[in-house]
Amino acid sequence: MNKVINWGIIAPGRIARKFASDLKLVENANLLAIASRDIDKAREFAKEFGADRFYGSYEELVHDPDVDVVYVASPHVFHFEHSLLCLENGKHVLCEKPMGMNARQVMELARVADQRNLFLMEAFWTNFIPSFVKFRELVANGVIGDIKVIQADFGFKANYDINARTFNKELGGGSLLDIGLYPVFLALELAGEPDQIKASAIIGSTGVDETCSMIFNYPEKGIVANLSSSFLVSTPTEALIYGTLGTIKMHAQWHAPTRISIFKDGKEDVLKFDEPGFGYEHEIQEVVSCLLDGLTESKSFPLTKSILLHQALDRVRAEIGLRYKYD
Ligand SMILES: NC(=O)c1ccc[n+]([C@@H]2O[C@H](COP(=O)([O-])OP(=O)(O)OC[C@H]3O[C@@H](n4cnc5c(N)ncnc54)[C@H](OP(=O)(O)O)[C@@H]3O)[C@@H](O)[C@H]2O)c1
Repeated sequence: MNKVINWGIIAPGRIARKFASDLKLVENANLLAIASRDIDKAREFAKEFGADRFYGSYEELVHDPDVDVVYVASPHVFHFEHSLLCLENGKHVLCEKPMGMNARQVMELARVADQRNLFLMEAFWTNFIPSFVKFRELVANGVIGDIKVIQADFGFKANYDINARTFNKELGGGSLLDIGLYPVFLALELAGEPDQIKASAIIGSTGVDETCSMIFNYPEKGIVANLSSSFLVSTPTEALIYGTLGTIKMHAQWHAPTRISIFKDGKEDVLKFDEPGFGYEHEIQEVVSCLLDGLTESKSFPLTKSILLHQALDRVRAEIGLRYKYD
């Protein structure tokens, strides 16, 4: 099929730059329009990334009849409102993670997308990266036997700025919803919904978790996951999966792995992967393929996975006593 999918971007910030750059790597995808609250910024971004149209408000972009799908890249707290704006104006949506501030918001977006027969997906790029897909295949094929322990972290020393979206509670700050969701995603992918969640966090002066440690327990499956996130310190940002026959390690940055080691029978086998871009082209390709096939959900990352993810995040937040005004 020769049809080209026309993309619009809402909120051209840091991540949107990488996304727009990777979109060029995807066949049948065209970056058509950019919307910023600042028209000059939209114009500059459109010029830099070769988009024909630019708008000084998000509302204008969703009224452009030629835009097929919108990538929502605003701070967390606006994901619900901006995705809803797109869906209510007939646009398919790829929304940055976290797709909502809680599971309730994610379920509501899923309901609206379903009602309007529109495509909706959380931009969980890790799920589509070929190295991660390979990792998942290795585990599913029993290369390390039965999983017993999952260990994954994501931590870096963030610039301490109380107004930045990382620390500002009004903008949905905190390590859990920003980077802690990657280790949570991994545990859910490998072991499913946990029977028990225990968590503890350091809540900083802005009222958000600056460091969060979690234990997911699966007594019946005999699996324990030890997960963490931090904006206070750099941690290895590796994932280690210990099984009855061996161990798999996704080296840093494990959420977009370029090196995977398999430790088995006293040997280490190393798999290396190259990425032509930043790694976002795979999720973009997934959306384009789904739209060309007339699907309203990704089979690989359906909305049920986003709902499960956000339900687990809600449970962690209940444990650490972190509430946002949307709860
Ligand atoms: N998948 C990934 O690897 C990845 C990586 C980083 C971030 N993210 C996600 O992407 C989202 C954006 O992160 P980012 O680092 O790109 O943020 P950012 O650089 O701060 O950009 C966010 C953009 O949102 C718009 N915006 C709308 N209302 C705003 C408000 N009240 N305050 C601040 N900005 C506002 C701004 O665009 P205009 O003013 O131009 O409209 C701003 O440029 C986050 O939810 C984050 O979780 C994902």
